[in-house]
Amino acid sequence: MRKKQHRATATKDHGASNATPPRRPEKPFHLVLLGAPGVGKGTQAQLICERLGTCHLSTGDLLRAAEGRLHDGRNPALEAALDSMHRGELVPDATVLDLVRERVRSLHCAGGFLLDGFPRTVAQAEALANLLHKEKIRLTAVLDYELPLAKVIARLGGRRICQACNAVFHVSARPSRVAGLCDHCGGSLHQRDDDRPEAIRTRMKVYEQSTRPLINYYAQRGVLITVSAAGGLEEIYQRGLVALNGLFPKRS
Ligand code: AP5
Repeated sequence: MRKKQHRATATKDHGASNATPPRRPEKPFHLVLLGAPGVGKGTQAQLICERLGTCHLSTGDLLRAAEGRLHDGRNPALEAALDSMHRGELVPDATVLDLVRERVRSLHCAGGFLLDGFPRTVAQAEALANLLHKEKIRLTAVLDYELPLAKVIARLGGRRICQACNAVFHVSARPSRVAGLCDHCGGSLHQRDDDRPEAIRTRMKVYEQSTRPLINYYAQRGVLITVSAAGGLEEIYQRGLVALNGLFPKRS
C-alpha cells in the first residue's frame, strides 16, 4: 500500500485556522471511502491520511501505476483491464482483488488504512469482508460522499493531472498558476482518458449499477456514514471527522 503523494494542489488549504487539530486515534481507523467517480474521494483521502496517519490504498492509482510499468505488452489480462478502465468500465473483480491481496500486509499499517475506490462491487465487498476476517481486522466505518450528479460531472470534466508527478488540479476550482503546467514540477497537465465526456457517462452508469448498491450493503452492516461532499475541501474533511467522532466519541 502506498501513500498517495500527488494531491498537493488539491490539499493546499491544510493550514486552515479553524481545522480540528489532528489527534492520533487510540486505535487505528480502518476506513472505506465510497462515492461517485469524481466526488472528491482521492482529495479527502489525502487529507485524512496526512492528518490521521492512515495508509492510503487507491485501486485506481494502483491500476494507473501498473499501466506505467506495462512497457513490453506481455500481460494481455492487465492490458484488457486497462482498456476497460479507459472506457470508464470496471476492471474485472479478479484483477482488482489480486492487486489488493498483493498488499495484504499493508492492512496492518500501524496508522490504520483507508481504501479509496475499493470495493466497487458487492463481490469485492464480500471478498474484502473475508480478507479482513482472515486478518482479524474490523472495519471502522465506510464514509459515503454524496454530491448532486451535475456537480460531480463538473469536478470530473475540469480535472487535470500532471503527466510527470500526477498532481491533481481543476481548471476552475483549483487551477495551476501557469495554464497547462504543474505548480510542483513544471510538467504538462493533461486530462485522464476516462475524464472525457463519453467515459464519464459510462463511469456514472457503472457506478449506479455496480457500486451504489454498496451503500445499502454497508448500511445494513451498521458501518455507513454519509458525508455531504458539497463545499470546500476543509469543510468536507471536518464533516467526515465530526461524523467519525460521533461514532467513536473517545477518538478524534
Ligand atoms: P479511480 O481512480 O478510483 O477513479 P474514481 O473512483 O472514478 O475516482 P476519481 O479518481 O475519478 O475521483 P475522486 O472521487 O477521487 O475525485 P478527486 O479527488 O480526484 O478509478 C479509475 C478507474 O479504475 C475506474 O473507472 C475503473 O475502471 C478502475 N477501477 C479502480 N478501482 C476499481 C475497482 N475496485 N474495481 C474495478 N475497477 C476499478 O476530485 C475530482 C476533481 O474534483 C479534481 O480535479 C479535484 O481537484 C476536484 N475537487 C475535489 N474536491 C473538490 C471540492 N471540494 N471542490 C471543488 N473541486 C474539488
